[in-house]
Formats: sequence, structure tokens, C-alpha cells
Amino acid sequence: MNGPNMSAAKDRVPVLRVRDLSKHFRQSGGSGGLTAAGRKNTLAAVDGISFDLYRGEILGLLGESGCGKTTLARMLMHLIAPSGGTIVFDGEEVQNMPERQFRKRRGKIQMVFQNPFDCLDPTRRIHGLLEESMKIWHPEMRADERLERIRTMLAECGLGEDSLKKHPKEFSGGQLQRISIARALLAEPKVLVADEIVSALDVPIQNQILQLLLKMKEEHSLTVLFITHDLSVARKVSDRVMVMQDGRIKGIGTPDEVLEGSEDPYIRELARAVFTFAGEG
Ligand SMILES: Nc1ncnc2c1ncn2[C@@H]1O[C@H](COP(=O)(O)OP(=O)(O)O)[C@@H](O)[C@H]1O
Ligand SMILES: [Mg+2]
Repeated sequence: MNGPNMSAAKDRVPVLRVRDLSKHFRQSGGSGGLTAAGRKNTLAAVDGISFDLYRGEILGLLGESGCGKTTLARMLMHLIAPSGGTIVFDGEEVQNMPERQFRKRRGKIQMVFQNPFDCLDPTRRIHGLLEESMKIWHPEMRADERLERIRTMLAECGLGEDSLKKHPKEFSGGQLQRISIARALLAEPKVLVADEIVSALDVPIQNQILQLLLKMKEEHSLTVLFITHDLSVARKVSDRVMVMQDGRIKGIGTPDEVLEGSEDPYIRELARAVFTFAGEG
């Protein structure tokens, strides 16, 4: 058997190396963006973090709302520029790469978001939405070849042929996440950044989507950064977890190492919660 924890241990090739990465936002608000001392008031949303994402693993990024998870993801996706530090993706420093140059690599790192309604144009049919992506990744293909890829991917994600002609509003939240995953994987990414992808779903549907993620990870040789504020969700899929608080990494390792071995008060609090809820399955 090829259990989810096996591949990561054997194959420690970093796909992504993050070093001392930070993002400071200028704070606006009542004080006019100035502190009492009259200096510009900035928020270190991500505050000097370093980690490696190894090929084939699911690394859970766990932390409370507002700790900087999405900001980190957006920097990895090249959507916002870091204030400092380096991001080495697939052997290349990308953090300051001009957009034109990064474009060729964009398909190699894909993201799925919490709310699929925000990223699927409600006026378009699923076929049109996925065809639009396929045209970006495979302009050289004939339309019928692209359609075949789309059909196959939707089927792998548990969606039937009839999905193609429907609009986003005709699907449930779980089905829309299946479509979002299908769309991301049509780019044939090496890395998938999954940002709270089950947070808006009921637990039984969450479990279906997590199962799909595990299956697609194996079948498409994915490496996943799995972002969640929910420890029980993180434990279900993660080979390793990384705990973040106030823009910093508090611990990284296997779930047991992190939760049982840490002296950090925040992690010990999390571990206590696991113990308390352990009986609830
Ligand atoms: N564009 C922005 N401008 C100013 N502050 C921001 C911006 N984006 C995020 N923040 C702030 O950075 C902190 C981290 O946000 P975020 O990365 O979204 O956290 P998380 O995803 O862990 O909930 C929060 O305090 C948030 O308000
Ligand atoms: Mg977030």
C-alpha cells in the first residue's frame, strides 16, 4: 500500500523553498495610518517565515483567522509582492520575477479558494468556464481535444457530462468545489494551494471533498499546501502541519510531532482541544 504518509518521507525534494518571507501592509483607519509616535503604522501580516514544501506531500497550514495564511498564499501565487524574503519555486527565485516572465510558470502553481462563487463567473456555463482555462494552458489543442480533457477531468472529480451545460448557480457548494478543483488541475500544476476549500461546507460534504483531494493528489502527482483554520480537517489530510500565529510559524512537523512535542503555548492550547474532542470521532 502507498499510504499518504509514505511518499513524503522517502522523497524530500523541495518544490517550494520559502525563506524569511514577509508582507507588511500599511494600516489605514482612525489614526490616519500613524502610530502615537507619528510613524507609519504597518501590519506584519506575514512576518519572516521559512519552510520547505516537499514534492508529493500535503503540508497543512493551520492557524486562526487573520494570522496571515491567505497573504502567504497570495505571495506564493505571485498575486502580491513580498516585502522581503525569497520564494524558490521549482529551483528558481520567483518573488521578484516580472509578471511576463512568471506567466509561463503560472499554470504550475494553482489555487482553489474558500468560496467558489467568487471565482466562477455566474453568467457562464461550466463548459465555457473550463474551456477558457484550457485555452490558456493549451492554445495549441483542437477544441474537441480540449473538450475531451475537460470531460475526463470532470468525471475524475465526480461530475457527469450534464454539468457542462449548467451554470454555477445550479450546483451545490460541494459540487462547485469539485468544479474548482477540476479547473485548477486542468493546468496540470505541480503545486496546488488549497485555501480553506472545505470551510464553507457541512462535515459530510467536507469529507467527500477531502477524499477527492487525496485521490487527485495521488493520481496527478500533486504537492499541496492545504490551508485551514480547522485542526480536525488539517489532521485528516496532512502529512505535515505548520502552525501559524500572528504572521509567524510556531511549529512544523508531523501532526503528532507538532501537537505533542511543542512547548509553544498556542500549540499546546490546540493540542488540548484535540484531546478534549478526541471522543467525538
Ligand atoms: N490587502 C490588505 N491590506 C491591509 N491589510 C490586509 C490586507 N490583506 C490582509 N490584511 C490583513 O493581514 C492580516 C492577515 O490576513 P489574512 O492573510 O487574510 O489572514 P488569514 O487568511 O489567516 O485569515 C489580517 O489582519 C488582515 O486584515
Ligand atoms: Mg484566509
